[in-house]
Amino acid sequence: MFILSQTPSIANHFLAELRDVSVQTDRMRFRRNLERLGELLAYEISKSLSYRTETVQTPLAESKTFLLRQPVVLATILRASLPFHQGFLNMFDQAENAFIGAYRGHHLNDDTFEVEMDYITSPNLQGKTLILMDPMLATGRSLEKVYHALLRFGVPAQTHIASIIASQEGVRYLKARMPECRLWLGAVDDTLNEHFYIVPGLGDAGDLAFGPKE
Ligand code: URA
Repeated sequence: MFILSQTPSIANHFLAELRDVSVQTDRMRFRRNLERLGELLAYEISKSLSYRTETVQTPLAESKTFLLRQPVVLATILRASLPFHQGFLNMFDQAENAFIGAYRGHHLNDDTFEVEMDYITSPNLQGKTLILMDPMLATGRSLEKVYHALLRFGVPAQTHIASIIASQEGVRYLKARMPECRLWLGAVDDTLNEHFYIVPGLGDAGDLAFGPKE
């Protein structure tokens, strides 16, 4: 498991701005920080992928370089993940893409919820590198449900899960249920509250990025 905030770096500024109530209300900055953290996590993941050696022709001579051996598929859960996804696309600019509409369908009598999924589009995933992302890894149940739905499109050679803020509980859940997936996180927070929001977390990432919903 990789945790970006464990290393002192500028990434911690972006995380701090996402969390800070006096900064996070600037929606454009909020989205841009999700995107910047997507770029940084994409770069970290890229170091773990496999490359082939190629030669490119410059105007002066040949130059040896490393190029990705396998195509990458970026899969994102709507809607908060869209700016995060864009950050990944800024790095993996030739990636194929999958989009999934998933949301918490709340039970009326208590605070529990079922993950509802009503939209999924994906390229064939067989043998490819899948990067599945959601900026907030709270319980891990959305990611689990979406991952299993994506397997209908083929079994990836490897799956990376990227989140900006995870809860310890969510991390434990995914490690137990999906041990074949590698986790790439911005930060890991202590707890979930009674509404399954991450604490301290940052609040509702979708609302902060795109405005409140009905
Ligand atoms: N989704 C969010 O936007 N925030 C959380 O804390 C958990 C899920």
